[in-house]
Amino acid sequence: GRVAVMLGGDSAERAVSLNSGQAVLAALHRQGVDAFAFDPAARPLTDLSHETVDRVLIMLHGRGGEDGSMQGALQQLKIPYTGSGVLGSALAMDKIHSKQIWQCLNLPTAKYQIADKSDFEAGSCGAIMHELGNEVMVKPSREGSSIGMARVTSAKQLLTAIQDAFKYDNQVLLEQYIDGPEYTVSVVQGEALPSIRMSTPHTFYDYAAKYQDDTTEYFCPSGLSDDDEQRLAALATRAFHALSGSGWGRVDVMRDASGNFFLLESNTVPGMTEKSLVPKAASAAGMSFDDLVLAILATSMP
Ligand code: DAL
Ligand code: MG
Repeated sequence: GRVAVMLGGDSAERAVSLNSGQAVLAALHRQGVDAFAFDPAARPLTDLSHETVDRVLIMLHGRGGEDGSMQGALQQLKIPYTGSGVLGSALAMDKIHSKQIWQCLNLPTAKYQIADKSDFEAGSCGAIMHELGNEVMVKPSREGSSIGMARVTSAKQLLTAIQDAFKYDNQVLLEQYIDGPEYTVSVVQGEALPSIRMSTPHTFYDYAAKYQDDTTEYFCPSGLSDDDEQRLAALATRAFHALSGSGWGRVDVMRDASGNFFLLESNTVPGMTEKSLVPKAASAAGMSFDDLVLAILATSMP
């Protein structure tokens, strides 16, 4: 039957989603699947019905597409869709709630504080820097692709970064900076794929390092010992399921100088662009891009 590939949308990650969605659509066409592009920012959702479409492959990133609202709407329309459900999508989109759940389960995640636009006091920045080790990552709680993020080393920089992050979300996560490489673990149909290590000359793995220049190095295999690779895979799949993730996704992790892992976030609709990570991990596991897309599509099977 017909597959609608949802792409675009109106989040800050629209451009990334258009790239992901077009790559996925091309793969489906190569595989002979009857699929078409659907941009919810351009057409009313009610153009879809279970008479005209059998399944939706969600390639929307960010709020409105990856946060449970689209998943709930499709559920109301009785159209099966790929990936996580309402709760899993909403939790993973929200970095603060993700960390709170992981903490409750004793899963490792860096120390943090929350800045809430309604009661944030500029005068608290010095104490926050001190409390979090004088090097802090500032993140809008519900954004993706590093949009609105900053790495800061002074109270003055922290204030500017928080004010900037408030443009994207009323809740901002202030997280102790973990000094070490970033790893990511892709999860497809419940199984962890080989981890990838990212190395960037930027101050962190930001939007430009992700999509705009070619300075990022990707290592897969990531260079971990077999033991550490297994430990990381187990941590990532636990973290993914702890947030009610299902189908497929990707968990991002930092590793400090002592070899400890710290969970950053889980993504329920990770990027599928040419530069994206899940396709790299799949390739290392012997899975082609087209097979990966079919595996993602299969997560919509009831
Ligand atoms: N939020 C982007 C698309 C990612 O996680 O890959
Ligand atoms: Mg994300």
